[in-house]
Amino acid sequence: MKEAELATPVYIVDEAKLIKNLEILHKVEVDTGCHILLAQKAFSMFRVYPLIKKYISGATASGLYEARLAYEEMGGENHVFSPAYTESEMSELVRICDHISFNSLRQLDAHRKIWEASNASVGLRINPEFSTQEGHEIYDPCAPGSRLGIRLCDMPEHLPEGVEGIHFHTLCEQGAEPLAETVKAVEEKFSIYLKEAKWINLGGGHHISKAGYNIELLEKTIKHLAETYDLEVYLEPGEAIALDAGYLRTKVMDIVHNTIPILILDASAACHMPDVLEMPYRPPLKGSGAPGEKQYTCRLASRTCLAGDVIGDYSFDKMPEIGDTLTFEDMAIYSMVKNNTFNGMPLPDIALLHEDGSFETVKHFGYADFKERLS
Ligand SMILES: Cc1ncc(COP(=O)(O)O)c(C=O)c1O
Repeated sequence: MKEAELATPVYIVDEAKLIKNLEILHKVEVDTGCHILLAQKAFSMFRVYPLIKKYISGATASGLYEARLAYEEMGGENHVFSPAYTESEMSELVRICDHISFNSLRQLDAHRKIWEASNASVGLRINPEFSTQEGHEIYDPCAPGSRLGIRLCDMPEHLPEGVEGIHFHTLCEQGAEPLAETVKAVEEKFSIYLKEAKWINLGGGHHISKAGYNIELLEKTIKHLAETYDLEVYLEPGEAIALDAGYLRTKVMDIVHNTIPILILDASAACHMPDVLEMPYRPPLKGSGAPGEKQYTCRLASRTCLAGDVIGDYSFDKMPEIGDTLTFEDMAIYSMVKNNTFNGMPLPDIALLHEDGSFETVKHFGYADFKERLS
């Protein structure tokens, strides 16, 4: 089908751009021998899991449901980390996951009988207490008071019996330099455990597929860990897999005026791109400029009742009209996985832009998807 035939709102994942990212990640695997996993919390469009599996080793999950999804739809290496598991979750996870990371010694021991009787390799998430980001405390697992990872002061003298891996996740949309600094801090504090472990997982937050990312330093850091401590090295990026590889196409439904023209869209920040309000950030919009940069500046907002459901102010060469479509960029990641039907808003369709330029609607949602979750 052609783009004009797609319904709105719709998330469109761009296969060619996804492949471009995956080629970069695949090369890091080949150059260093590391294993790269899709962090499904960022992107779980399982229709493209077979494509992703051609380039990287597998997936990682934040709990049972994501782990099941990767097991059923990808079939590669399957890792999981959660701050806490129930007994029944653990009984299922040990059947479908090859690597399980625990957030506390209490959780490790609470489930010991189950994981000891399985083939899963078990790791501990550490907190290096080494922050490399400023301004986004909710994305900083090393921030004071963090519940994520075991601090050095709470680690035993040696890795507990049966533990084979070390996991840390401390970065968010960052380069290889903060990773290298973090690895240095981890070596200074946790080297005894690195020597005892078989694998290390460097978490996510690596913006590997972003232009200008220092891949040479990333590869040097991975090889250093692998060679110095004889470790298998894992990375579990989410964003880097589908960075800039998706759009949210929306239609202008009405235009009202209050100080500036306000476009009422069939897409919503609160429902369809919650990170715009949570981070917060202003998503890029195809063909637009900063406020005042082009002749017509408009506010883009949603048709929900939330006063703050505003995406941002953008300028245009030509005044947008009712019925026009607008395309937000970089909408594959942390969008579909976080959306909701607040206000009874319809969920956007999910579509694929194939490499040959054709479009395919992969999934359409309706009233049942709204109702089924409510009672
Ligand atoms: C444990 C863990 N691994 C991987 C990721 C993926 O991070 P990103 O999508 O920023 O690469 C996250 C994100 O929060 C995480 O918490």
